[in-house]
Amino acid sequence: MKLEAISFKNDTLKIIDQTLLPKQIKIITLASLNKSIEAIKKLRVRGAPAIGIIAAYSIFLEAKLLTEKGSLSQKSFNIICKRVALSRPTAVNLFFAINKMKSAYSNFNERTSNILLEELKKCALSIHAEDRKSCEKIGYFGTKIFKEYNNVITHCNAGILATGGNGTALSVLYETFKINKKLHVYVDETRPLGQGARLTYFELSQNNVPCTLLSDNAAGSLFSQNLIDAVVVGADRIALNGDFANKIGTFPLAVLAKHFNIPFYVAAPDSTFDMNAENSRDIPIEMRSKEEVVSFWGIGNSDNYNVYNPAFDITPAEFVTAIITNLGVIEKPDKNKILNILQP
Ligand code: MRU
Repeated sequence: MKLEAISFKNDTLKIIDQTLLPKQIKIITLASLNKSIEAIKKLRVRGAPAIGIIAAYSIFLEAKLLTEKGSLSQKSFNIICKRVALSRPTAVNLFFAINKMKSAYSNFNERTSNILLEELKKCALSIHAEDRKSCEKIGYFGTKIFKEYNNVITHCNAGILATGGNGTALSVLYETFKINKKLHVYVDETRPLGQGARLTYFELSQNNVPCTLLSDNAAGSLFSQNLIDAVVVGADRIALNGDFANKIGTFPLAVLAKHFNIPFYVAAPDSTFDMNAENSRDIPIEMRSKEEVVSFWGIGNSDNYNVYNPAFDITPAEFVTAIITNLGVIEKPDKNKILNILQP
């Protein structure tokens, strides 16, 4: 795989600025907490696992900076975590990472600041490494199912650019392509920000996986002509009953899949499950600016426009054939099956 969404070397955090893709592959350094938060908010880095990883590294780097200034304390550490938590609300991986960093802090806060910083760094590195491993496992489990399918549709970007590894939904497809050269991926463009058109099409092409781009509203036409064998998408937050949030436009795909009796798969690591969310009512949905919708059409002044722009939608569990996780596959997910796999 040629791309790397996130790199962390010599205490320097770098990302590909995804707002510029595919025209330009520009690596930027997130040299301060403000820069990291801005990058998450503006979707320079995006995708649930990726923003969790960025959160962890950024908390470590800010703690290091405050240590150098002699002002790291439980209070200032909590403020850092709170600021990161306010960057985006839906992807639970962000909060998973923040909580892990908080535990690392409280486990070691009696010791010297050097040990504390080492522990924070170790924690951030392990969140990144674990995600890389999860992507591999998801690919491994997913291939067993997907080797049967030739024409698959996906939505948004759940690939290399969204994770610390080869992706979730796209890891399944990359691994499947190794054994089934007939695999072909239909890529929803993913309005309004074009994660499919700009990111998924780009990374699949870079890795030589045959793909076709379509506008989101063309999906029904493919299903109705029997041209789709399966759907695979990522997730931002999965509730204990199997309801999940993913990029706006995921739910209509699930409805189409159910109508045409086509299997619908979700691929996500264990860090995407929210143990505190019983069902979709416990999942907060991010609302984004009206400019994101109107600017595509060259409408300069959006003052007179009423716009509905949720970043995510909810797909109820009853639409899901299976969730492919790093721990195994959960068919027809429900609370028992999810808890069995997460807490065996
Ligand atoms: O708004 P985005 O681009 O961060 O939304 C990303 C998605 O919806 C992805 O499908 C999800 O985070 C899974 S990424 C492995």
